Amino acid sequence: MSEIFSSFSFKSLDLSNRVVMAPMCMYCSGEEGFPTPWHYSHYGARAIGKVGLIIQEATAVEKRGRLSPKDLGIWDDTHIEPLGKMVTLLQNFGSKVAIQLGHGGRKARPGTRDIIGPSGIAFSDEFPNPIEMGEKEIKDVIHSFKKGAERACAAGYDIIELHGAHGYLIHQFLSPYSNKRRDKYGGSLENRLRFPLEIIREIKEILPSEILLMVRISAVEYIKGGYSFSDMLDAAKAFVEAGVDILDVSSGGAGPSPPRVWPGYQVPYAQKFKEELGVPVIACGLLKDPGMAEEWVGNGRTDLVALGRALLRDPNWVLNAACELGVPGIIPGSYARAYPEEIR
Ligand SMILES: Cc1cc2nc3c(=O)[nH]c(=O)nc-3n(C[C@H](O)[C@H](O)[C@H](O)COP(=O)(O)O)c2cc1C
Repeated sequence: MSEIFSSFSFKSLDLSNRVVMAPMCMYCSGEEGFPTPWHYSHYGARAIGKVGLIIQEATAVEKRGRLSPKDLGIWDDTHIEPLGKMVTLLQNFGSKVAIQLGHGGRKARPGTRDIIGPSGIAFSDEFPNPIEMGEKEIKDVIHSFKKGAERACAAGYDIIELHGAHGYLIHQFLSPYSNKRRDKYGGSLENRLRFPLEIIREIKEILPSEILLMVRISAVEYIKGGYSFSDMLDAAKAFVEAGVDILDVSSGGAGPSPPRVWPGYQVPYAQKFKEELGVPVIACGLLKDPGMAEEWVGNGRTDLVALGRALLRDPNWVLNAACELGVPGIIPGSYARAYPEEIR
């Protein structure tokens, strides 16, 4: 019995296997943020390839929050229909679909200098100084996240994920490294948590019970002046108490220097969140090998395994894993002749 090919059920969510496609920007929308034939084909290929849960790339809740001028967007009602078509396509192939709602804040590259952040400090020399958000602006951005979530519900997504990691706006408020405010949104952890918690609470108000809420977090920051792992545990506990269903555990991104990495480097963090908070978690990071994924799930380190670059290289990673692990009944009929008879 394979671990990653066992089904996963939590609340209203049923996944046919434990393999998740990590959110990955494709940088190929037009200026207005609509999906293109690339998106339908790219995500469609992974759905045909039997990925259990596809997390759509960071999708901007405000035009000025895009990480590049070619990001997907959900800042307008006109995005609902084309995104909805894509969701239905993927669901018809058997995948569940999440959308990652994002705002780049001081790390946005929308193609203009209109960028905002908790404090007026640039991310690096390559970025302009952001405009420090006033309270009205904070409320407006919270509203944009809520509207993005509403539109995502209308488009039919199974899960809404907030991008709270990698140094983008939500993370910028959480981190004492980027948040130097002296009002109720800065200073203590309780204050730095206010912005993400207000977003979560606003979204929970409109979220139907059958759509789950997930947050991607950076478990650690790898920078001097950042938060500690134990701060992040407290933050994640507050997220869960506010109604977050699943934690998608990543790390880093708050500062310009990336950490040293190796296969599974983020798994111990995911495991700790799972053990301490009792919620399902997703672990990710340089996973290539199905045997390693079996170990992560089988030994209870994580509930779900996410693959990023391995799924870019090979849309049929799941089918090839079924072959390697000897799991029958996974290969789509149209591809059967490409695989050994015992596993068809
Ligand atoms: C091309 C590319 C785009 C990415 N875009 C996003 C994104 O939109 N949101 C996000 O949370 N992470 C993003 N990431 C990070 C991945 O989701 C993942 O965490 C990272 O690649 C590590 O996993 P891997 O070693 O399996 O690739 C991106 C990574 C890549 C390679």
